[in-house]
Amino acid sequence: MPKDRVYIFDTTLRDGEQVPGCKLNTIEKLELALQLEDLGVDIIEAGFPISSPGDFESVSQIAKHIKNATVCGLSRAVQKDIETAAQALKHASKPRIHTGIGTSDYHIKSKFNSTREEILQRAIQCVKWAKNFTDDVEFYAEDAGRTDNDYLAKVIEAVISAGATVVNIPDTTGYCLPYQYGEKIAYLVNNVPNIDKAVISCHCHNDLGLATANSISGVIAGARQIECTVNGLGERAGNTSLEEVVMIIRQHKHLGFCTNIKTEQLNPISRRVSDTMRMPVQPNKAIVGSNAFSHSSGIHQDGFLKNALTYEIINPEEVGADSSKIVLTARSGRSALAYRFQKLGFQFDRNDIDELYNTFLSVADKKKEVEDPDLVAMAKQHQKSTVTL
Ligand code: KIV
Ligand code: ZN
Repeated sequence: MPKDRVYIFDTTLRDGEQVPGCKLNTIEKLELALQLEDLGVDIIEAGFPISSPGDFESVSQIAKHIKNATVCGLSRAVQKDIETAAQALKHASKPRIHTGIGTSDYHIKSKFNSTREEILQRAIQCVKWAKNFTDDVEFYAEDAGRTDNDYLAKVIEAVISAGATVVNIPDTTGYCLPYQYGEKIAYLVNNVPNIDKAVISCHCHNDLGLATANSISGVIAGARQIECTVNGLGERAGNTSLEEVVMIIRQHKHLGFCTNIKTEQLNPISRRVSDTMRMPVQPNKAIVGSNAFSHSSGIHQDGFLKNALTYEIINPEEVGADSSKIVLTARSGRSALAYRFQKLGFQFDRNDIDELYNTFLSVADKKKEVEDPDLVAMAKQHQKSTVTL
């Protein structure tokens, strides 16, 4: 059966770049955009053109140079924002304007001091303004995660009638549980009569560590676009991480989805984004962390050395990572020690390894990790003592 394509909307250069310390200049943004296009993302959210002259310039340059991916610019539901976004995107071969407004009562009352009816009218209006410049208009209902479903359905129906081709349902505060977010998407699928005229998009934040789970739950319920960032960068605790959703879709083929991402580029682009944005990746980060393919406990190492599949569900090559590592710590076992000696060119029998293992443990208890020079010293010492005997 053909698989359903899930569109990857990358917002590393917009939501990701909002992170304090991650700001990029135009050249850096353009270089990353070209690499994102090569990775195979479908849409690049290049920035928020009204926010600063520098960001306007970055979006314009990206729009000029990107040929295959759609280039998207963010705006509020404000005429000037939309006109500025359109201006910045004017040379794009596939321009998209992303406009919208907060729809939860928190936003309506506290942020806008307004009413649901007024916000509904502004939502319709902003899509109509954006439609003057491009056919491809995405509407976001900010804080949809905490928006009443009936009202959200009303807004979504109205903006699709006004011409929105993509409807973004952000869990802006990362509040939803996966089943709740999935139910919200299912509610829209079942209660918005014209929903088949638009693609539903997930935009989930990670305040409770659920962004990836929520996005996948949204796709299972009917969404076909995921908004995400490389390394999960984004406001506060971040956004859905691109590498995670892509590999979940690839690992769980039975779900029936696919993306266009060249997965062997996931680790190289993660490093590139981390270096350019000067934002380190946590070592235990799924797919792209430095420990993602390291094995350090004796039980795991023994199983892994017998058959990698016992403890690894992804081949590191598939995601462009260095080959799996057997790390030696005080929790490691004899098989791992023998394996590392062998890699260094030392062949020891079972008795040798038993003896060496005791020396190894005394070193390992003093150090966090036992490294090649320690092993070479141990092996040479052992060889000397056995020759003397
Ligand atoms: O988190 C959010 O709601 C956003 C919107 C502007 C799409 O980033
Ligand atoms: Zn966001």
